[in-house]
Amino acid sequence: MPTSQPLVPKYLKQDELTQECKELLSTLPTEKGWVASTFYKYQGFWHPCRHLQGILSCQKHFQAQDTDIILVSTPKSGTTWLKAILFALLNRTRFPISQKNHPLLSNNPHVLVPFLEIKLYLEQENPDLSSIVSPRLFSTHMPDVSLPKSVHDSQCKLVYLCRNPKDTLISLWSFTNKLRLQEMGTNSLEEASERFCGGVSMYGPFWDHVLGYWEESLKNPEKVLFLKYEEIKEQPKLCLEKLACFLGCPFSLKEEIEGVVDDILEICSFDHLSKLQVNMEGKLPSGENCNLFFRKGEVGDSKNYLSPEMEERLDKICKEKLDGSGLQF
Ligand code: A3P
Repeated sequence: MPTSQPLVPKYLKQDELTQECKELLSTLPTEKGWVASTFYKYQGFWHPCRHLQGILSCQKHFQAQDTDIILVSTPKSGTTWLKAILFALLNRTRFPISQKNHPLLSNNPHVLVPFLEIKLYLEQENPDLSSIVSPRLFSTHMPDVSLPKSVHDSQCKLVYLCRNPKDTLISLWSFTNKLRLQEMGTNSLEEASERFCGGVSMYGPFWDHVLGYWEESLKNPEKVLFLKYEEIKEQPKLCLEKLACFLGCPFSLKEEIEGVVDDILEICSFDHLSKLQVNMEGKLPSGENCNLFFRKGEVGDSKNYLSPEMEERLDKICKEKLDGSGLQF
């Protein structure tokens, strides 16, 4: 008789690790996790063991191609939004935006643009990617130092997305609490803020993640496009046009006149995506409810949660950490 397994969503499972990963884990510094019990510090950044397994496999096996496009982001910076935008942009000939059965209408953006280390290389150690049409579009939250070597060696392009740290913190705190099982309870905002400020958050320290890609984007602007959530919110059309030029698929005059830019922004808007059945009621294969990726989608919502002391502390830390870099939030 099979024994009954407790109902643990896949994203919390910790029992599918390779021997290599287990051995590495035993050597790494640890901290308490935000969702899973433990964080491990690998190459300067904090990860739950599942993510680390995916990172190791990806580092070992992923071969970037010159035509690849990789969306890199800090968690909760609007990854879902930019996945949708990139998918719509790059596939606008194959899937015209006005098409009644556009893939974005029936698939969550995370399904259309898979994460390397928390989907493809987590499910299989060395997945067969040969059926993916070119240009291949992937995403990752990996910090610059952890990217597979072939990403640096190839001419593939990186689109980097981050968001002001206070809104990132609130979005992350809210998201991770919803991923926790009822019996795990929730993390208080005081605790989340304390740990975020100490650098101990998913793929944190936040400022080291951001600075790694900021510096790369300055050194190699042809390869790395650095974007902020707030910029896209403020000037969506300009950002989309910039993105299209960076990726070598600028909008033609005909497309501009026909309103393709506005159509992409509309299909990818918070209001539109969050009300689709797939995003209201669906689940990702890893177990997360799709609606968790759509909360408020606003700039400055952290004001409604953080105390003045918490805001001041995070502002001060980020100012110190980013000092002299030319980057500000
Ligand atoms: P909030 O929690 O502040 O609402 P990620 O996709 O990286 O996990 O980030 C999630 C954040 O992006 C959430 O922020 C979510 O509401 C917001 N978001 C999701 N889809 C969006 C969209 N189409 N436009 C703007 N923001 C969006």
